[in-house]
Amino acid sequence: MNTSVNLCGVTLKNPVMTASGTFGSGAEFSEFVDLNKLGAVVTKGVANVPWTGNPTPRVAEVYGGMLNAVGLQNPGIELFCKRDIPFLKQYDTKIIVNVCGHTTEEYLEVVERLAEEAIDMMEINISCPNVKEGGIAFGQDPKAVEAITKAVKEKAKQPIIMKLSPNVTDITEMARAAEAGGADALSLINTITGMKIDIHRRSFVLANKTGGMSGPAIHPVAVRMVYQTAQAVKVPIIGMGGIMNAADAIEMILAGATAVSIGTANFTDPKVSEKVVAGIEEYMRKYGVEDIKELVGAVQER
Ligand SMILES: Cc1cc2nc3c(=O)[nH]c(=O)nc-3n(C[C@H](O)[C@H](O)[C@H](O)COP(=O)(O)O)c2cc1C
Repeated sequence: MNTSVNLCGVTLKNPVMTASGTFGSGAEFSEFVDLNKLGAVVTKGVANVPWTGNPTPRVAEVYGGMLNAVGLQNPGIELFCKRDIPFLKQYDTKIIVNVCGHTTEEYLEVVERLAEEAIDMMEINISCPNVKEGGIAFGQDPKAVEAITKAVKEKAKQPIIMKLSPNVTDITEMARAAEAGGADALSLINTITGMKIDIHRRSFVLANKTGGMSGPAIHPVAVRMVYQTAQAVKVPIIGMGGIMNAADAIEMILAGATAVSIGTANFTDPKVSEKVVAGIEEYMRKYGVEDIKELVGAVQER
């Protein structure tokens, strides 16, 4: 049975990765999960300098998931390279570094610094709804998506994954723009902008007023967007959004994802990523699937 997948020339032992921002840089989860068992670890977004993030409260529980407005708090690229990359290097898993910035120049500073590091891929976050400049400002305009993808590709030494926002009218337009800019792969979806009001205080629950919705309630939206995107582009897709178990991951793969990322589920069960790997293997045994590639985009008309 072969569970390995090829993501823009990088071989992952299985398609299961962690979603950026929900797994730190692996260290805090390493006592629960054997990182050697995962296809890849995707780190929290890192910028050229440290960011303090948004004021608190910045997370809230809602039906079927959570809202967050963390605002990409991160230690900055220098500390990240000194502390987090060497930690992850101890494990037999692929390292994907998620990159954030306010301006093209800030993204490029991080991309150029990472060119010197032994990481496997970069995931460029142009879809964070919780920062005022940069992030989603790039991800909602196809011209801007293509331009930043091109700029990053010129400087990058590793393959580039562009991370798309669901907060758009037509995700395939953004996907095509990223592909035209030279993206090696796409990941989707980031969080869906939401809001929660405390009726007793008559005020917003999050200091930022709005936050990104994640968790099981967004899963059907993510499956639909992965399916539509898979019909529109040739580059491989990393599917995410509300994957809580192996069944959700397999659904995403059948919709067209070559790999999957597990996010919010890590907060309710820190061992979930390893369980998803085991669950996919069980499914393959049950249905006599020799190679996981047979499942990618294999959904059929009823
Ligand atoms: C607390 C939190 C922090 C996140 N931070 C990042 C981030 O730094 N960069 C990024 O690209 N996505 C970030 N995301 C988005 C996730 O990687 C993922 O795309 C999204 O949550 C949907 O997957 P899920 O429903 O499995 O959580 C964050 C999500 C959460 C819940």
